[in-house]
Amino acid sequence: MANKRTVIRLLQPADVPRVLAIYQDAFAGFPWYETLSDTELQARWKHDSEKAGFTAYVVEKDGLVVASGWHDAISIDQLRQERGNELADWVEQKLTTDPDRQVIWERELVVAQQYQRQRMATRLRGHSESNLKLSGNKFLILARIREDNIASIRSARRFGFSKTGVRQAASTKPLKHDYWYRELN
Ligand SMILES: CC(C)(COP(=O)(O)OP(=O)(O)OC[C@H]1O[C@@H](n2cnc3c(N)ncnc32)[C@H](O)[C@@H]1OP(=O)(O)O)[C@@H](O)C(=O)NCCC(=O)NCCS
Repeated sequence: MANKRTVIRLLQPADVPRVLAIYQDAFAGFPWYETLSDTELQARWKHDSEKAGFTAYVVEKDGLVVASGWHDAISIDQLRQERGNELADWVEQKLTTDPDRQVIWERELVVAQQYQRQRMATRLRGHSESNLKLSGNKFLILARIREDNIASIRSARRFGFSKTGVRQAASTKPLKHDYWYRELN
């Protein structure tokens, strides 16, 4: 039957409303249980999509977008501004022996609840990494994951991410966020 397949492709402008609906749905579930308003979603999207090097992919299953993930390129100065000195110093130290490595911030990975645990995140991460590798550059990929986000932690571990050791208090006390990294050659 037509469209009965799963494809991963670059996000098109027409996908944005659907991606924001997925974002809202994903964060309404485990472990967030947050009600993100349309205004909040629009603000987050504007913030993320205007970043340098913003790259977003979607997974389309049977003609319907069911998941999305996006990243951007970040400088040490921006990192310092956004995430504070501890992480920026850690990255700076990491890059002293490897200054050509480009720093990528994995901003978001969202899968509609109905499609979770069906390897959508795995496909997205795999696709994104393959495309980064094609560029021939070396990367340091960073992500922030709340310590109770088992799904996200398992996905990150599967792709070889490790903890930087830098932590940050989450808005939901006493939980913490960990900053994770992966070197991609
Ligand atoms: C995190 C998220 C993107 C994972 O997407 P997914 O498509 O369900 O993940 P996958 O099916 O590719 O599974 C990846 C790994 O996580 C595990 N996993 C997925 N959901 C899980 C759950 N609810 N509990 C425990 N493990 C889970 C899978 O078993 C798999 O583990 P393995 O690789 O060791 O076998 C998705 O749960 C989501 O959208 N969560 C809400 C938004 C969010 O937290 N995004 C990440 C922000 S850091």
